[in-house]
Amino acid sequence: MKPTDMPKEGAEMTEETEHMIEKNCAKEPENVASAGDAKEMRVVVLTGFGGLNKLRVTKKPMPDPLEGEVKIRVKACGLNFVDLMVRQGNIDNPPKTPLVPGFECSGIVEAMGDNTTGFEIGDRVMAFVNYNAWAEVVCTPLDLVYKIPDDMTFTEAAAFSMNFVAAYMMLFEVANLREGMSVLVHSAGGGVGQAVAQLCSTVPNVTVFGTASPFKHEAIKDSVTHLFDRNIDYVPEVKKISPEGVDIVLDCLCGENTGKGLGLLKPLGTYILYGSSSMVTGETKSFFSFAKSWWQVEKVNPIKLYEENKVMAGFSLLNLLFKQGGCSQVKNAVHKLFSLYNEKKIKPRVDSLWALEEVILYLLGDK
Ligand SMILES: NC(=O)c1ccc[n+]([C@@H]2O[C@H](COP(=O)([O-])OP(=O)(O)OC[C@H]3O[C@@H](n4cnc5c(N)ncnc54)[C@H](OP(=O)(O)O)[C@@H]3O)[C@@H](O)[C@H]2O)c1
Repeated sequence: MKPTDMPKEGAEMTEETEHMIEKNCAKEPENVASAGDAKEMRVVVLTGFGGLNKLRVTKKPMPDPLEGEVKIRVKACGLNFVDLMVRQGNIDNPPKTPLVPGFECSGIVEAMGDNTTGFEIGDRVMAFVNYNAWAEVVCTPLDLVYKIPDDMTFTEAAAFSMNFVAAYMMLFEVANLREGMSVLVHSAGGGVGQAVAQLCSTVPNVTVFGTASPFKHEAIKDSVTHLFDRNIDYVPEVKKISPEGVDIVLDCLCGENTGKGLGLLKPLGTYILYGSSSMVTGETKSFFSFAKSWWQVEKVNPIKLYEENKVMAGFSLLNLLFKQGGCSQVKNAVHKLFSLYNEKKIKPRVDSLWALEEVILYLLGDK
């Protein structure tokens, strides 16, 4: 299932997909007990780093929750840019293959391990998982599981966690977004980009500058104040509109954009690096792109930041969750985001839905 990326309006689902999702994902909590008796589950497995041909749908033994874990019958899982980078082996310290990709899912609580309080069987939840989300069943620590609002669908929830939490923490906890500020965001039509745009609209008089491929502009033009073609040099375009620059730059491209972003900051402005999309230039990992991005990154001297009154930061939600013990900070952000969702101020945009069997066809471009 693919709850991110643009440009189609709303979730697109064929009748065939709907049938497969209905057939394989029991809709009501009462079906959970019988589904829980199965000894195996279906998963999407990555057999080795590389191209799309490394992905297979296969079966694995049904996992049991360990102490402190919640077992979830997955209804939807997110496909994010980071999953593509994992597939290519384009990440720091990748785990060994074969592995089951996926860092986020939504579903119904099916069982709990020992010492697990706060959840009941049948609860509707979304969760972060340290890999293994592209499966029918997932077990993950209690601290990474959140009960979702009644109105939130499972597909919305699977498109919510990574995109909105990353956007929220960068804007409000790292950069301290306030009334009247301006924000530049790259990949404005992507999952994080759209979450950034929606969250900016919750603060009065925030101007959003965004870059995106031209074919997405029509679909996202209402969410971004000034949209630029990703293929042009956006620096002079931003300066034409705002000669003094911007308050916040969110850079997920890396490479030469780091220097450009820092150059666009107003005094006391914040630049945040949170991705390295420009390292991806084809279906498989390219050492040339990797080296080029690395070489182009501005080497920043802290004394220059001090003299120019600029803030430079980095943000990685997965590292915060899985390596740095940041679960309670993330939980706090999730609760604030749920309030905004309940107030109808934000809403994840789901591009399309795919049944598990279709994922491989979709990724191979047969759909
Ligand atoms: N640090 C964190 O915690 C965190 C969390 C989530 C995501 N991220 C990062 O944020 C970025 C966006 O993630 P997402 O999930 O929102 O992605 P997404 O929904 O898959 O959208 C990605 C968009 O990035 C642009 N793009 C793709 N390949 C590119 C390339 N080689 N060079 C430049 N632009 C490219 C494309 O948009 P256009 O063609 O319209 O430009 C594409 O639609 C990724 O780098 C991801 O790793 C970081």
